[in-house]
Amino acid sequence: MTLSRIVILPGDGVGPEVIHEGIKVLQAVADTFGHQFELSEHLMGGVAIDATGSPLPDETLAACRMADAVLLGAIGGPKWSDPTAAVRPEQGLLGLRAELSLYANLRPVRLSQALVAASPLRPERIQGTDLVVVRELTGGIYFGPRQEPSHDGIAFDTMIYSKPEIVRIAHVAFRLASKRRGLVTSIDKANVLASGRLWRSTVTEVAEAYPDVRLEHQLVDSAAMHLLRRAASFDVMLTPNMFGDILSDEASMLTGSLGMLPSASLGEGTLGVYEPVHGSAPDIAGQGIANPIGTILSVALLLRHSLGLEDEAEAVERAVDAALDAGHRTADLAESGQRSVGTAEMGDVIAAGIREIGKRGT
Ligand code: IPM
Ligand code: MG
Repeated sequence: MTLSRIVILPGDGVGPEVIHEGIKVLQAVADTFGHQFELSEHLMGGVAIDATGSPLPDETLAACRMADAVLLGAIGGPKWSDPTAAVRPEQGLLGLRAELSLYANLRPVRLSQALVAASPLRPERIQGTDLVVVRELTGGIYFGPRQEPSHDGIAFDTMIYSKPEIVRIAHVAFRLASKRRGLVTSIDKANVLASGRLWRSTVTEVAEAYPDVRLEHQLVDSAAMHLLRRAASFDVMLTPNMFGDILSDEASMLTGSLGMLPSASLGEGTLGVYEPVHGSAPDIAGQGIANPIGTILSVALLLRHSLGLEDEAEAVERAVDAALDAGHRTADLAESGQRSVGTAEMGDVIAAGIREIGKRGT
């Protein structure tokens, strides 16, 4: 019996709805495999601004530091998006990543066979898609010096990288590739940006320690194109912070929907923050129709990376595949005329699938 402390940050918009299903799945895993998860809910994002004035209250940050893992829904929404506002929900998320030094963001993009028809792209373009975006998460233009819009009509952000920041994320990508198909595609804009040239030369140096992994470099614009042309040829995509943000949303459409993608944000230890790649989707919040699979697959990553529970993680992933194979579709995945299920029903089906897998003992 393992006792693990998991902090839950539902956040804004559809966050609480998808988190509810993530908790359902954690409960199914606990019951099925005999673990104990101690869950504690805290405020982050817009709801935290409303309640405390801060998007990342000290109390929330302290709880996250003490936890084994953090499961996050989504943050942000029109209520807090005034560009002149002093605080924004996104600062909470960026603050959490920085405070916990979660520099490695893993975003697996795997096409489930059942969803080949759900992608807006032709089947032959996406068949065989199985890649991981390894996004640098605590540096680059997100965290460089900036100036907010001033009276003279000027604003700037700075893309800044140091060698150690690139080295540590590159090692994450190479280690991962050596356990997968042995290819790292490093993304930069080295033909224009100085930080891109440092990125490229540093990644090339790190590659020397991994003779079994092939390294290729791609400019970000051309990578965006190749993702749609030959997705299956990518294994690990190593990216600076902002390029990974953009390419992972693009890559999500290979799987049928942005709602499918999970993520893990990791640092040096085992503590991680797990969240769906999608945002708070204010347009559909409160309707019970959001796709909870991105969150549920994030639970699988949490079990794998923070709790070391590989069998349990695989059970969750297999239960997701089984639900899709059986034809269950949330609205974002349904083809025209196909019946769709709501957020809670999808969670129920997947939780039941986990119990089923447990009963069979496989
Ligand atoms: C993501 C999101 C965040 C990011 C936003 C909400 C700050 O888009 O995790 O991809 O840009 O990193
Ligand atoms: Mg994003």
